[in-house]
Amino acid sequence: ALGDRSRSLLRSLILRDEVDSTNAQLLALMEAGTGHAVVMFAEHQSTGRGRRGRHWVSPFGAGILLSVGWEFSGGVQSLEGLSLSVGVALARALGRFEVPGVRLKWPNDIWCRGRKLAGVLLELKGDLTDRCGVVIGIGLNSGLRGQAACAIDQPWADLQQVCPGIPRNLLAATILDELLPLLKDYPEQGFRAYRDAWAALDQFAGQPVVLQSGTETWRGTAAGVSDKGALILEMAGELKYFHGGEISLRGQ
Ligand code: BTN
Repeated sequence: ALGDRSRSLLRSLILRDEVDSTNAQLLALMEAGTGHAVVMFAEHQSTGRGRRGRHWVSPFGAGILLSVGWEFSGGVQSLEGLSLSVGVALARALGRFEVPGVRLKWPNDIWCRGRKLAGVLLELKGDLTDRCGVVIGIGLNSGLRGQAACAIDQPWADLQQVCPGIPRNLLAATILDELLPLLKDYPEQGFRAYRDAWAALDQFAGQPVVLQSGTETWRGTAAGVSDKGALILEMAGELKYFHGGEISLRGQ
């Protein structure tokens, strides 16, 4: 069901029953050469990776476990905001199936009706100054039968419960149709092309939030994202900018 553009951007599509982690597999296997994607789907991961060192857990055959490998030239700075843009691509794919209540939570969670539906984990490979391999891992909860998707400490949503009957393969192809052209065009477009779309889907815009980084905590009002994808927090009338990494964000 892949569209022509994504078909032309796809070098190989690997389908696996069982792997340790699709991200780990693709990091090991990325081939040199820009302008095309290497894609892996798995039915199950024994050690699926989440952000901030957490595990991503889902039963065999549930949801979507996907990694996309892409090589960029232009160094790691050309990837600013990429993980947020991937969130926009996922939201657009879900929008094509009219999934209700989809929102984005900085830096790269997809929420649905106030709960986490999908997560994105970017991992980098290479010297990061010129050629730079990126593996984009996406885990989407669907048909979890009550098992938590991530060793998560936040409420999670299940697509099959929110919006039953979406064919899994069609959703997977639709995600690739949104994502692969984005990757191809990203070096020219950058996050500027996605900032407004991200802002329109911002789960916490204008709301009081708590940010945690290591032992430090900041409280303020979420004031959107910058051109580079940094979270803007308003604290006592001043704006402070936070860049991704190990930071977690919560509503108050
Ligand atoms: C998060 O913590 O929200 C990010 C979760 C990312 C999970 C996906 S599942 C497919 C890919 N392979 C992995 O090991 N992790 C990502």
